[in-house]
Amino acid sequence: MAECVEYRGYRFPATTVKDLEFAGNELQVLDDDVFNVTYPKSGTTWMIEILSLIHTNGDPTWSKETPNWSRVPWIEIQDSEETIKKIQDRRRYLSSHLPRQLFCKSFTNSKAKVIYTARHPKDVAVSFYHFSKINKFFAYPESFDDFLKNFLSGNLPYGSWFDHVKGWLELVGTDNFLFNTYEDLQKDLRGTLKRICAFIGKELDEAALDSVMENVSFHIMKDNRMANFSLVPEKIMDQTQNRFMRKGIAGDWKNHFTVAQSEYFDKVFKEKMADWREATMGLE
Ligand code: A3P
Repeated sequence: MAECVEYRGYRFPATTVKDLEFAGNELQVLDDDVFNVTYPKSGTTWMIEILSLIHTNGDPTWSKETPNWSRVPWIEIQDSEETIKKIQDRRRYLSSHLPRQLFCKSFTNSKAKVIYTARHPKDVAVSFYHFSKINKFFAYPESFDDFLKNFLSGNLPYGSWFDHVKGWLELVGTDNFLFNTYEDLQKDLRGTLKRICAFIGKELDEAALDSVMENVSFHIMKDNRMANFSLVPEKIMDQTQNRFMRKGIAGDWKNHFTVAQSEYFDKVFKEKMADWREATMGLE
């Protein structure tokens, strides 16, 4: 198993303390920057594709020729400083899984924009469980029940889903923050794309939107080597048994949770989110 780095109470894969400090303290945010921020397994890769295709007005060439981690790189992973420096002649689109308190300080007081995508936490747990089986930085889960305990206590790389969402959603209502959900993308992709375009100041005609919709669809992305992580070496991500682009649906948690697990999850959710009434995420 590859080692995660311990940093300020969290564990992070594929990085170093130096890279994390770059992301938090040194990266100079530009007013034109657009950030794709998520807790892992919430739709990060989907949003990378969406931003790439919006940027090119629906032309899929960039998405088909350049790996997603170069198009919309993560600010906190190894060598991100070098990767980001190379972006000279275009707007910067940047991804991050960082909890808000570790995110770049220079974002505060900038006009840069954050699109925060959240997903139903039960589906995040299921997706994270399967991802942990293929990602060599993560402990191989003994069982779904075991994994769920770690998810609910925040004992996972990137920490607690609850803290991540609550930390970032404090920014709801500020001009440079757009809250989006995986479920919105599923239910109304076109409408959500229009909302994103308006937020980042891009105007796409209907034909360009058609092309974005087609090229960000699950069936196209799962076969796009620049989007499906098949270029990642097997010793880091082993997709021989399970694939990164797994199911791509909302509600798969119903196929994994027992009634008891679901009830316990709801109880913990209510306790942890008690101070944030809007975060029901479809949980009643
Ligand atoms: P599943 O494991 O439930 O299939 P992230 O990119 O944040 O790691 O999230 C990965 C999840 O998003 C996976 O969920 C993946 O299949 C799903 N996903 C990626 N692209 C998608 C798309 N175009 N449509 C629907 N789901 C997508």
